Amino acid sequence: MDSHLIPTPSKQFAGMKHAENYLKYRPEWPQELVLRSVAFLMEKKSKPFKLALDVGCGSGQSSRPLAPHFKSVLGIDVSQAQIEVAQTAVNPKNVEYIVGRAENIPLPRNSVDFISSGESFHWFDNEAFFREIDRVLTPGGCVAVYLYGRIMPWVEGDDAKNVKMKEVVNEFHDVTIGRYFSNKTKNLANPENLHIPYAEYKRENIVSFKESTVDLYLNYVRTLSGYQNYVEQNTNGEDILNTLRDRLLAVLEAPSAAMKIYQRSPVCMLLGRKPDIGTR
Ligand SMILES: C[S@@+](CC[C@H](N)C(=O)[O-])C[C@H]1O[C@@H](n2cnc3c(N)ncnc32)[C@H](O)[C@@H]1O
Repeated sequence: MDSHLIPTPSKQFAGMKHAENYLKYRPEWPQELVLRSVAFLMEKKSKPFKLALDVGCGSGQSSRPLAPHFKSVLGIDVSQAQIEVAQTAVNPKNVEYIVGRAENIPLPRNSVDFISSGESFHWFDNEAFFREIDRVLTPGGCVAVYLYGRIMPWVEGDDAKNVKMKEVVNEFHDVTIGRYFSNKTKNLANPENLHIPYAEYKRENIVSFKESTVDLYLNYVRTLSGYQNYVEQNTNGEDILNTLRDRLLAVLEAPSAAMKIYQRSPVCMLLGRKPDIGTR
């Protein structure tokens, strides 16, 4: 497929329906990740923390989990639709959202204790984003980038089924919709190529599990940019998710997609700290 048929990020995330599906089906980031990030921040800074900024916040999946740890949380996203949906979601009182670009953050110098970016870093112009991170972070402030790898359906205590489901999902990703992902999303397959250019920098990998059903898992797949692009360009065909559902149910030997399963997410977290005054 010609690369010009793959929308740019601003078009990819522009639709209201897409944003609403995001709110319903994209997982919120687990507290475990946020606690690890806050522990990293607390190695050099003490509470109370004033402001956390979540860049590429979508409909708030990566913003709301920050609420217990900061006086206020601001989510910014280039997509007006994502911001509108985030604002109508159920949010903690200290979380707000505005439209804004990662490469031109609408905040003053040295004003933010912590910056997060959940599954959005690969869409940004990374050099411009780093310049902005360094401008708006307070000395000793931290940035945490969260990226999940391929989320898989998973059942407890049956490795054979998990291996088979992985094969089915990998084939769906790589063969059925593989050509419809932008190259930026393909970078997620090799997160080791992504890094944060601070001297104090580390990478952590964890695996998180979330209760789900086959149906909910398929609805998560519905939010993938590769699937969205496929549907846009193949309007007459049958919904390819029906085939994916049937294949997963066959592996699970399950009569219905209401079957309870887990979503297994491998998460890569990049943590970096802006040098303190005196060390710059
Ligand atoms: C995959 S979604 C992630 C949403 C959410 N953070 C999450 O954890 O699920 C990526 C988001 O990045 C936003 N985005 C892409 N490029 C951007 C940019 N240059 N500046 C700000 N947001 C951007 C998109 O509009 C989209 O909402």
